[in-house]
Amino acid sequence: MSGLPISVEKLSYSYPDGRLALDGVTFRVAAGERVALVGANGAGKSTLILHLNGILTGQGDVQVGELMVRKNALKEIRQRVGLLFQDPDDQLFCPTVGEDVAFGPRNLGLKEPEVQERVHDCLTRVGLHGFDGRFVYHLSVGEKKRAALAGVLAMNPGVLALDEPSASLDPRGRRELLALLKGIDSTMLVVTHDLEFARELCPRSIVMSGGKVVADKPTAELLGDAALLTEHGLA
Ligand SMILES: Nc1ncnc2c1ncn2[C@@H]1O[C@H](COP(=O)(O)OP(=O)(O)O)[C@@H](O)[C@H]1O
Ligand SMILES: [Mg+2]
Repeated sequence: MSGLPISVEKLSYSYPDGRLALDGVTFRVAAGERVALVGANGAGKSTLILHLNGILTGQGDVQVGELMVRKNALKEIRQRVGLLFQDPDDQLFCPTVGEDVAFGPRNLGLKEPEVQERVHDCLTRVGLHGFDGRFVYHLSVGEKKRAALAGVLAMNPGVLALDEPSASLDPRGRRELLALLKGIDSTMLVVTHDLEFARELCPRSIVMSGGKVVADKPTAELLGDAALLTEHGLA
């Protein structure tokens, strides 16, 4: 699917224990744009990402394309927004890699040959060709992260929300991931601590701190701003 725009308007969220994790977050991402989401541990990046497909719902508005992220639209929202969890163990839930990647396309109602075609195609794209029958719990963390990404890509979503996609990958895996993501025209919001990865993939970066957006600027400019990087634990 080609990219869909994202709009987040005055979004605030507190966890059940009362911790305010998002505090009035507002930004827009144009259709097909790729934006890095950066900031120190605990800044609220993962919490924000979880709002894009309604896993969490706070105060304020989140919109994907013309659709508001609301409880009554979750099925459609989850087809539009592919979310890669920070921890692949939160994502993978079938015994084998092949079943896990097949789950989404099957749920879309695709016929079995087409499901299998997508599984093979997506596993190959993430560098896991031939992993169909492997047990998820035998995989390394990096392999799990790739398997989870294959499951996300298999839905062909208009928005990719990726939480630290290059974490746990080896240098070649990271390079291949970069090439793969560059070739996808979905809108992307990419949480990363890897500023070089951000620079190569995302022309624009949003910096979060304490649940707020504290900077929103071209990635090249951010990388040149040593004071800002230090202040927000990025360097
Ligand atoms: N399930 C939770 N319950 C309570 N607080 C949480 C929970 N998950 C995250 N937090 C807190 O919310 C804040 C934002 O966390 P998170 O979105 O995970 O940050 P980041 O992804 O930027 O590291 C942190 O202070 C974190 O400790
Ligand atoms: Mg996080």
